[in-house]
Amino acid sequence: MEKIEQLVEKAQELLGGNADVIAASPGRVNLIGEHIDYCDGFVMPFALDRYIVIAALKNGTNQAKFSSVGMPDVTIPLGQALECDEPKWGNYLRGVIHGFFQRGLVPPGFDACLVSSVPGGAGLSSSAALECAVATLLEGLCGVTLEKKAKALLCQKAEHDFAHVPCGIMDQFASTFGEKDKLVMIDCRTGEPTMVPFENPNLTVIIANTRVHHELSDGGYALRRKHTEDALAIIGKSSWRDVTMADVEAVWETMGSPVNLRARHVVGEISRTQDAAKALAAGDFETLGRLMYESHLSLKDDFAVSCRELDIMVEIAKEIGQEGGVIGARMTGGGFGGSTVTLCESHRAQEIIETMAQEYEKRCGITAEIFSSRPSLGAHLVKIGNNGGWSWDPK
Ligand code: GLA
Repeated sequence: MEKIEQLVEKAQELLGGNADVIAASPGRVNLIGEHIDYCDGFVMPFALDRYIVIAALKNGTNQAKFSSVGMPDVTIPLGQALECDEPKWGNYLRGVIHGFFQRGLVPPGFDACLVSSVPGGAGLSSSAALECAVATLLEGLCGVTLEKKAKALLCQKAEHDFAHVPCGIMDQFASTFGEKDKLVMIDCRTGEPTMVPFENPNLTVIIANTRVHHELSDGGYALRRKHTEDALAIIGKSSWRDVTMADVEAVWETMGSPVNLRARHVVGEISRTQDAAKALAAGDFETLGRLMYESHLSLKDDFAVSCRELDIMVEIAKEIGQEGGVIGARMTGGGFGGSTVTLCESHRAQEIIETMAQEYEKRCGITAEIFSSRPSLGAHLVKIGNNGGWSWDPK
């Protein structure tokens, strides 16, 4: 895996000169609290030590030109309202630039090169990493610093309006607020993040990318969100935080399937996430592990966003079990493919990664991408010295 320093080096090389501004923004993994960020729930993600890095050089025009190896170049006119266009990946860029324009912020023209160590389409939020990296780059080019929450919301709006995914706030918040050794616990009702220490060296988080493609813009995500809205309307409350399991059961038949199943997931997952936060604080890893497995089952059976490969990856972790150092495992992110998250004892992590890789390949015939990550710094500008040299200063 390329470290951020290597990514910065590579982006500068591609740019062919010393950048004026360099921005970095991470992907995320979510420990628990899935598909409830758009239901006023709680989520517990952290910023991965996997980044998208963008290096930019002012070009004296009123255009922004983005290039990335293996992707078609994107040219965007600056200083005017933007709309969706081809190539498709440029819509994340257009969406964020449009958001800045709406705030009266127009950067000078620039050429930008982009490199990434965030696996794409893997449920690890490469799109939020991209949006937040562009927003951070634009802050640097415009000479402003947006309030973090406003910046995350601007990026979320870019995803809604330009990528047409009606996502919640988790990914952009994790990417923006991330800190070293901290979880970004978000109360999605108030929209306030709380930084929760996660520095126990005996705990390791393993991310396993099943390499089964995950595409949220093809309708499955939006449909799940709609089911939850329909359910809440039938239950007759204004927020999921005020809904109990008894409320769900009372209108079970009226809601019908699958809306009633979606409702059961939301209420269960909100309480599991609160319980998980308590278990983590108390060092009760047995409870935490159980809640992770329960979360996976609920996402599989009630929310129907898992897939065979995700289930197998979780099953393998469960088989390794406590004796093998595994605390708990579940799918993470939007689902329909993508990655699992496994919490384990650090001294067994390497062994666990190897077993998971071997078993997964044996059972699915796919080579997974499996790695561990500690909570890392969120979106930031990389400092550039007077001589064009740069230094990474994560505070
Ligand atoms: C995607 C969305 C998030 C969240 C997760 C599921 O990553 O972007 O807002 O809804 O799915 O928890």
